Amino acid sequence: MTTTHNSEEHFLNISRIDMEFPTPSGSFTALKDVDIQIKQGEFISLIGHSGCGKSTVLNIVAGIHQATKGGVLLKNKEVNEPGPERAVVFQNHSLLPWLTSYQNVELAVDQVFRKTMTKAEKKDWIEHNLKLVHMDHAMHKRPDEISGGMKQRVGIARALAMQPEVLLMDEPFGALDALTRAHMQDSLMEIQKELNNTVIMITHDVDEAVLLSDRIVMMTNGPEATIGEILEVNLPHPRNRLALAENPEYNRLRSAVLKFLYEKQRKVEVIPTTTTAEEDQEKTPNVA
Ligand SMILES: Nc1ncnc2c1ncn2[C@@H]1O[C@H](COP(=O)(O)OP(=O)(O)OP(=O)(O)O)[C@@H](O)[C@H]1O
Ligand SMILES: [Mg+2]
Repeated sequence: MTTTHNSEEHFLNISRIDMEFPTPSGSFTALKDVDIQIKQGEFISLIGHSGCGKSTVLNIVAGIHQATKGGVLLKNKEVNEPGPERAVVFQNHSLLPWLTSYQNVELAVDQVFRKTMTKAEKKDWIEHNLKLVHMDHAMHKRPDEISGGMKQRVGIARALAMQPEVLLMDEPFGALDALTRAHMQDSLMEIQKELNNTVIMITHDVDEAVLLSDRIVMMTNGPEATIGEILEVNLPHPRNRLALAENPEYNRLRSAVLKFLYEKQRKVEVIPTTTTAEEDQEKTPNVA
């Protein structure tokens, strides 16, 4: 690695962010003083109860939202718009409905590799990434012809195919069955080791957070949500889920996350009078 210690420490600097949203009843402060410095190649999980502000943090790093105060620096350059070096896997997949899975990935590949890959290389690369997420059998189907979990996998293939320096993932495996999810977690660990991308992943799954992360950033409940605690995960790589189940350090970390969520930041559920389809899908962190 050629980076100096200092620039490595500040590869991605989420610096003292506040986020206020205008609402009909006045300004709503979703985030207050969110501050995280991330090293190159680090894998960070963001965990916290539904509605605390995880997606908002991710969208600010993606350049989709602008923080009201503070900001994000990537390699000392201010982030104020989306860019292909920061690929996003959205919480609700965001494929273009009129394009096939292949074409959705192709669009991203064209954006990044238009000048550096031949047509044949691009085709191989698109197919390789769709294979990686086990979607090669449905490459030429459109989003309305495939399931929610499959759409999510195409979204992951699209992000990986961009070989981004920073991979931003908002609950990427939430809609997948347990087996596919385990496969995707293992693939992600391998890919990240190979490419050394910096990852921020939002998850509701405590085991997933411990398995994949170098650090788990735990957020307090909003409004004015901020970072409550940061947990270092020093388990050696490669990590094996079966071996970890018996590992005392793994279990200590897992308990620390659960304690934060269910003792320190216990969420008082407010039952809404009306719910939208989207609210119906809201989840609390998953212990299963
Ligand atoms: N555009 C917006 N306008 C007003 N309020 C917003 C807007 N976007 C988000 N919020 C509010 O900010 C808070 C944080 O939302 P956010 O989507 O970041 O939560 P989250 O932690 O990702 O939740 P979940 O786990 O359910 O996805 C919520 O109270 C939400 O209602
Ligand atoms: Mg969210």
